Amino acid sequence: MCSKGESLLELLMTFIPGHTCKVSLWDSDEPVSRAELLKGVAGAHGLLCLLSDKIDTEVLDAAGPNLKVISTLSVGFDHMAMDEIKKRGVRVGYTPDVLTDATAELTVALLLATARRLPEGVVEVINGGWSTWKPLWLCGYGLSGSTVGVIGLGRIGMAIARRLKPFGVKKLLYSGRTDKSYAAEVEGEYVPLDTLVSESDFVVVSCALTPDTQGLCNKQFFCKMKNTAVFINTSRGAVVNQEDLYRALSSGQIACAGLDVTTPEPLPTDHPLLTLKNCVVLPHIGSATYSTRGIMAELSANNLLAGLQGTDMPSELKF
Ligand code: NDP
Ligand code: DGY
Repeated sequence: MCSKGESLLELLMTFIPGHTCKVSLWDSDEPVSRAELLKGVAGAHGLLCLLSDKIDTEVLDAAGPNLKVISTLSVGFDHMAMDEIKKRGVRVGYTPDVLTDATAELTVALLLATARRLPEGVVEVINGGWSTWKPLWLCGYGLSGSTVGVIGLGRIGMAIARRLKPFGVKKLLYSGRTDKSYAAEVEGEYVPLDTLVSESDFVVVSCALTPDTQGLCNKQFFCKMKNTAVFINTSRGAVVNQEDLYRALSSGQIACAGLDVTTPEPLPTDHPLLTLKNCVVLPHIGSATYSTRGIMAELSANNLLAGLQGTDMPSELKF
């Protein structure tokens, strides 16, 4: 079973010379329906899925005991029931590293767009709101001399920090479960989450979604932030309590927010967050460059093939 993309199908056919591989392909850009997924996966040895496919006990049961490998076209794996997958001895391939630069770049773009109010400015130009140059019109917040806090200084968090430092960031704080020796490169200071939240001018969330980080950014969190602070999330929507974020933004508790990820996805067009000028929402496009998506597709196909052949995967998730 293979979710999406003719190129993946071609890869699967070319990469096992002398062997045949029966592929059931969901050939659409729209998500595979649950019923189709359950039907298509029955008896499969391998499954190539997207982050929008929930891989839970029901899917694993539908696949049955043949299933040897699941390859996800993502670095995040919060859409998969890892305990159950482990119990069944199924191997998992994912796509770390190859999307780090694209995602870090998008995070910086979102941060600048949010802090400097670019979407608002574009709308004003189009709708005639631009009357003249005004001293305080559309003023925002700059990175120069600022304190930036990164929650989760992993591959992407570190790539974000590297890109932000040259903007003149004065202090780089980070939090997570462990201190990172590589943080020295960006003069990163490991601090408790509370310190990061209360001292940062920019709070950037780039951690994995886990039971510990689910709802981490809630009322208490936003209350500790400066009311001039900018909040950016490019990890997963569920790290944020969106009702609390709405209140923090609409009451002026924090200055503005930029989100590439939401709950649910897509965010309904009548969602309260979309009524706020100080909230910029993107449709989960962190890794969306042509070359990155191509490399992710190739890597996930190769992970799948290695799993089917019982050889080393280019990127196997160890859990
Ligand atoms: P990494 O595993 O390299 O980094 C994840 C980080 O999360 C680690 O540094 C880890 O810190 C941190 N973390 C885990 N638990 C906690 C916690 N309780 N509190 C704070 N930090 C924690 O993954 P990547 O950097 O490659 O990817 C990170 C996430 O970004 C993915 O899981 C995915 O959800 C998201 N993503 C989003 C994209 C988009 O399109 N918007 C694109 C790609 C990824 P520690 O090491 O200390 O445990
Ligand atoms: C991931 O890989 O986890 C992203 O969210 C999409 O690239």
